[in-house]
Amino acid sequence: MTSDHEVAPESGARLASTWLGGVDLKRISDHVGTPVFIYSEEQLLRNLQRITSAAAAAGLADRVQLYIPFFPNSNPHVLRPTQKVGAGLLLQVPGEYEILSRFGYDNFIISPGHVSDEEIAFWAKTGYTTFLSSLDEVAYALQAGAASISARIDSLGSQKPGIKMTELRRLSELLTRHGCQLECFEVYCGSGNSRDAMIGVIETMFTIFRKYFPDAQSINFAGGYGFAYDKWAESEKHFAWADYFAQLRAAADRMHIPDQVRFLFEPARDVLADTGALLVGVKRDLITNPIASVLVTDGSRMLMPSAQLRDRRHNVAFLDAGLTEIADSGRGGVPAAVRGRTILRHDYILPAEYLVPEGVNSHSYLLILDAGVYCATQHMEFLNVPPAPEVLVDLGGELHMVSSRGDDLDKWRNLLPDRQPLRR
Ligand SMILES: Cc1ncc(COP(=O)(O)O)c(C=O)c1O
Repeated sequence: MTSDHEVAPESGARLASTWLGGVDLKRISDHVGTPVFIYSEEQLLRNLQRITSAAAAAGLADRVQLYIPFFPNSNPHVLRPTQKVGAGLLLQVPGEYEILSRFGYDNFIISPGHVSDEEIAFWAKTGYTTFLSSLDEVAYALQAGAASISARIDSLGSQKPGIKMTELRRLSELLTRHGCQLECFEVYCGSGNSRDAMIGVIETMFTIFRKYFPDAQSINFAGGYGFAYDKWAESEKHFAWADYFAQLRAAADRMHIPDQVRFLFEPARDVLADTGALLVGVKRDLITNPIASVLVTDGSRMLMPSAQLRDRRHNVAFLDAGLTEIADSGRGGVPAAVRGRTILRHDYILPAEYLVPEGVNSHSYLLILDAGVYCATQHMEFLNVPPAPEVLVDLGGELHMVSSRGDDLDKWRNLLPDRQPLRR
C-alpha cells in the first residue's frame, strides 16, 4: 500500500497515488460483482490522526473531542478506527444507537434535529448529551426533569433545525428559570467551508459562550470543514487542521475561554469522503446518439447523491476488463454522461460529463472516488434497484465484505405474503 499520497499525478495512472492503487479490485469484482463500495481502514485512520495530531500540536490534545457523524456512513465495521483514536460517534435516530450498541460502541453524542417528546425521552434515558433544536423542545425536556440540557444553534438563520441566534436570550432565560445551565451548544455553519470561513466562526462561537452561556462545559463546532472533491493530492483535498487549531487556541486564550471548557467537532466529509470509492461496471460500448454520448453503467443515481445535490466534481478512473487502470493517453476522450441502470430520465450517477478514454467498452469499469460519505447511506432502493454491497480493506490490506448486496427482491423484504387486517 502506498503511504505517501502527497504527489498530484499529472496524467496517466492516477490511482497509484491513492490507497486504491494497492487494492486488488479484480478480486473484489470477481467475488462480489458491481456496483460495490470499497472502503479503506488505513485512510480513515490517517484522516482521524491528521486531526488529532494537529490538535496536539496546538496544545489542545486534552480539550478536543471528535464525534464522527454516523448518518453519512453507517457501517459499524468501517468506523472501527474511530475507537482507535478515542473518537465517538454522532447519532440522530434511535436505530443507530441500537445497531452501534450491538457492535460494542458506547461513546456518543446525539443531534436529532426536531423530534417528538417521546424521542427526547428516549435519548434522556440513555444519558447521552443531546442537542435540542428549538425552544419548545428544550422547554419539554426541562418540564420532564432533564438532568442537563444541550442545544443546537442555527447560525445561518436558515431552515435547518436549530435555535436561531435571536432566540439565545430567551434560551438562557428559560434555563435560568429552571435553575439549569447549558451543558454544551452545537453550531453547524454549513457544509464545505474554507479554512478562513471556519476560522471566522471561532470568534462567533466564543462570543456566544461569553455572552449567553459562560458556564457551559463544552462548545461543539460541529462539521462544515471543507473537502476538495476535484483535487487528487491528499494535502489539497483536506481541511487545514493545523492552521485552524492554532487559530482556535489563540482565540481561546485571547477571549479567556476557561481551560476546562472542551471543544467538540463533528467532521464528516473531511474524515470520510476519501475513505471510500464506488466501483461500477460499464455495460455497453459508448452510446453516441444525435443528442449526446452516454456511458451505460450498472450504478444508480441514488448511490451518488452527494454529487447531484451539491454538484460535486468527483474524480474518476476508468479500468479495463482486468481492472487495470486505463491510462489517459493524453488525447482526452469523448465527453459522455454517466448513466445508472433505471428508466428515470435523471438517472445520471454523476453531474456533468466525463471524458471517456479510448478503449472503454462494455467490459470496462468506472471507479468513482471520494464516495465514503453520503453515498451508500442515501441509496434508498431507488426505483427498486437493490443496494450495493460494501467491502472493507483492513489495516493489513486484507479484504472483507461488510455488507452483502441487496438481492433482487430486496425492495420487498418487508412485504407480507398476505394482507393483515388491523385489529380494532
Ligand atoms: C449536526 C451536523 N454535524 C456534522 C455534520 C457533518 O458535516 P460535514 O460533512 O460538513 O463535516 C452535519 C452535516 O449535515 C451536521 O448536520
